[in-house]
Amino acid sequence: MIIMNKKMAGGMCFLLVLVTATWACSSEKPQQEQKVSIPENTIDPAIWGKAYPEQYELWRQTEEPTPAGKSKYKVGFDADNITYDKLSMYPYMALLFNGWGFGIEYNEPRGHAYMVKDQLEIDAKRVGAGGVCLTCKTPYAPVLEEKMGQDYYMLPFREVVNRMPEEHRELGVACIDCHSSKDMTLKLSRDFTLGKALDSMGVKTEELTHQQMRSVVCAQCHVTYNITKTAEGKSNGIYYPWQTSKWGNISIENIIEKIRSDPDNKEWTQAVTGFKLGFIRHPEFELYSYNSTHWQAGASCADCHMPSIKVGEKTVSDHRVMSPLKADLRACEQCHDQDAEFLKQRVISIQDHTVSLMLRAGYATATAAKLFEAAHKAQAQGTEFNKEFYERAKDFYLEAFYRQLFIGAENSVGFHNPPEALRILGDAVAFAGKSEALLRQMLAQAGVKVPMDIDLELIKYVDERGEKKLKAKPEQEIKDPFGLQQRFLPAL
Ligand code: HEC
Ligand code: HEC
Ligand code: HEC
Ligand code: HEC
Repeated sequence: MIIMNKKMAGGMCFLLVLVTATWACSSEKPQQEQKVSIPENTIDPAIWGKAYPEQYELWRQTEEPTPAGKSKYKVGFDADNITYDKLSMYPYMALLFNGWGFGIEYNEPRGHAYMVKDQLEIDAKRVGAGGVCLTCKTPYAPVLEEKMGQDYYMLPFREVVNRMPEEHRELGVACIDCHSSKDMTLKLSRDFTLGKALDSMGVKTEELTHQQMRSVVCAQCHVTYNITKTAEGKSNGIYYPWQTSKWGNISIENIIEKIRSDPDNKEWTQAVTGFKLGFIRHPEFELYSYNSTHWQAGASCADCHMPSIKVGEKTVSDHRVMSPLKADLRACEQCHDQDAEFLKQRVISIQDHTVSLMLRAGYATATAAKLFEAAHKAQAQGTEFNKEFYERAKDFYLEAFYRQLFIGAENSVGFHNPPEALRILGDAVAFAGKSEALLRQMLAQAGVKVPMDIDLELIKYVDERGEKKLKAKPEQEIKDPFGLQQRFLPAL
């Protein structure tokens, strides 16, 4: 499937030369720049931009709308200025996340330039955790954390934003987040999060290879995290749940075990079930690095999301980081000889299959949630249930919930690791089905009648979101490749 001696990205060259000495790196990799030293601790990208104007201009372009119609699932932010709403695309999520900010507003990502802006605009409940929410957003996070200590995590979000220079309060990921100002090599800026997490797996950052760094700079943010709380419910720390994992082997099982075993990081209460739960966010690095084909082939995040691009006379890394589909799959040509249309169809096919199983897992989990709701209502009126059945059903429910959450939050819709995404979702379907079966048996034993088809009341969860409802246009945005959602959505 692969033409091996095609032009490879800089990092791949380094890696593959070790394997086959005959491969020649093409001249089309980014050129060695004249090194310019930037004064230490310079955050302002405009200053870096004077020395590196091409990268700076591309970086600035992340604020432009991305081309419409090229990606099926990652519509992002197009020329119509619509930021796509996940809760409308996948209404079961509105049910499952009801009870806190994610159930009110949960959008598809868009360009890097928007990361802080989107936070300032999002429903205030989403940043209720406090300053800690800035951790994977502003380049000021490391400085603020160092200066403010505990206050950085717990003070209200706006208050911490106001500690930044006014002109940079909306600045997203900047040069200093990924580069050393001394020599432009790749460098991690977040020792207090990713540094610690790697350390907890026994990985020394100074020993990471150049090619690994081309992924790890992204793993500063494109990973899941848990926010720890004080007894009063105030945020007092952040960590990545990788403690029981190894490099290249951060499994969903380990992540769930860590979330479930640590009472500290139950961040919210699910309205439908009343359960206190943790949450999983954008686990791109975890899914990708878990034995995926491309990870094993030595590809990095930057290989696919920052391919070489010609700007005038120069060839540079595309700092307009975005979906490879929106960049016409240029990145894939480094290794694949198939044409862009063929590869695009492969990506969409993988995503369609992922979404099909994701919907199955999501609706099965939502069905179990509604049965818990029915059980809790009956309990409030004095019905007693078999404890063992209840606990088992809850255990299975939580296992299903975190698995569907993981894939629903992972931004590639399965592409980063297709078989693993399907394995996780298959397990979620099985766990949710077991939970439902036990709940039905438990309810029947106690004489509580439940109908064959459970009414998920989706319209309620999708629409009763205050003004956010207006953003939702479910009939246009629902993603339903194999017609599964329709069955659950007669009312929408
Ligand atoms: C400082 C944290 C941070 C770092 C470092 C970072 N990202 Fe992001 N990235 C984000 C956030 C936050 C968003 C979502 C922004 C929004 O929707 O407002 C995002 C969005 C994206 C998107 C979607 C863009 C679009 O047009 O919709 C892609 C693709 C992406 N990142 C890839 C990468 C890659 C590859 C790297 C490493 C080279 C990287 N990111 C490094 C935080 C980061
Ligand atoms: C082999 C190529 C490849 C590699 C390696 C890769 N990605 Fe992706 N990524 C994709 C494709 C393809 C998509 C789906 C894009 C779409 O549907 O428009 C995607 C989607 C994404 C998105 C969502 C983009 C959007 O527009 O919303 C993010 C964020 C992302 N990847 C981050 C990463 C990070 C971080 C890494 C490394 C841990 C990584 N990717 C590694 C190919 C790759
Ligand atoms: C999200 C991380 C990230 C951010 C933010 C970022 N870069 Fe980069 N940059 C990279 C990666 C990855 C490479 C490829 C490096 C390599 O393989 O050696 C790169 C390469 C470069 C290079 C070497 C030439 C090239 O194009 O490959 C320069 C110069 C550069 N970046 C400048 C900048 C400037 C200036 C900014 C800010 C305006 C910036 N970068 C922001 C990740 C980033
Ligand atoms: C660094 C090299 C490299 C890059 C870049 C790369 N691939 Fe691959 N890809 C491979 C290798 C190696 C395999 C496995 C061998 C094979 O299938 O021939 C593979 C396999 C695949 C497969 C089949 C396996 C699977 O996971 O489903 C698809 C589809 C695919 N790549 C799509 C893409 C797309 C789309 C892009 C660009 C977004 C891309 N690749 C970028 C090296 C690469």
